[in-house]
Amino acid sequence: FGDWQQTSASETKPETPITLGFSQLGKESAWRVANTASVQEAAAESGIRLVMKNAEQSQKKQFEAIRSFIAMKVDVIAIAPVVESGWEEILREVKAAGIPVVILDRSVNVKDTSLFVTTIGSNFYEEGVKAGKYLLDRLRHLPGPIRIAELQGTSGSAPSIQRGEGFRSVVSARADMTITQSAPADFTEDKGRAIMRGFLQAPADQLPHVLFAHNDDMALGAIDAIEEAGLKPGEDILVLSVDGSRRALEQLAAGKLNAVVECNPLIGPQLMQAAKEIMAGRTLPKRMVPPEDIFTQERAAEAVSGRKF
Ligand code: AHR
Repeated sequence: FGDWQQTSASETKPETPITLGFSQLGKESAWRVANTASVQEAAAESGIRLVMKNAEQSQKKQFEAIRSFIAMKVDVIAIAPVVESGWEEILREVKAAGIPVVILDRSVNVKDTSLFVTTIGSNFYEEGVKAGKYLLDRLRHLPGPIRIAELQGTSGSAPSIQRGEGFRSVVSARADMTITQSAPADFTEDKGRAIMRGFLQAPADQLPHVLFAHNDDMALGAIDAIEEAGLKPGEDILVLSVDGSRRALEQLAAGKLNAVVECNPLIGPQLMQAAKEIMAGRTLPKRMVPPEDIFTQERAAEAVSGRKF
């Protein structure tokens, strides 16, 4: 797991295929669609039998899916958890059934970390820190007050909580920089557009100078709303987001986004490798984080060409 670029899911083919039950949380964003495809492709390449259920943003549906995987006696269960809390009981059921668990993408908040083998996914706090640092640097010569609007992701989800905390930990260095508007928009483009329309109803002297959207889809919706209001995204309102989808990088190259913090959805091969290592009885690190970067306008056009999602 040391080298994410060179990790291949098809290194060894087990004689008896491993069955992996995967509870995916939904299909809210381009990131999620790419993540699902990455898991499906990596399973096919590595000869792992994948049983995937999509929970459409419902933790209850995730519990149902996990219980069905227990009944099927799958070898390994992977969970991309919609929210951080409420997982103890179901994870205890899986442990009692003797099935190892891999947490994928978002983290769970449980006291007993023996309930899962490993978490494979991004450092969301660090992503928020990167967005905050970009902003401090970009506005270092601009006197305050600076008003920031924030489009949060799904309430209670690890990326929304941790990106918000990481961002605040940095921008709090400037007392004249304030988050004046903040609301959840569920990581979707439609809600990003609708909530941003609401933010832009503020009196002229209260309008935001900056938008921090917790993902690209919400930022893309918000860009529409900013243009509808007769303002220029990227100039009148600086726009920062997280993920690095092709559409967002195109808008970055066009000057309508100012910075996009990378969050890598293509972690299917790492999940398959983890399943194989677990079945081979090997010990895995408790946390595996892909290397990630930040895209700015200067690098956007070059980044678009090789983008996979
Ligand atoms: O958990 C990862 C986040 O979930 C991505 O940033 C977002 O686009 C997705 O919906």
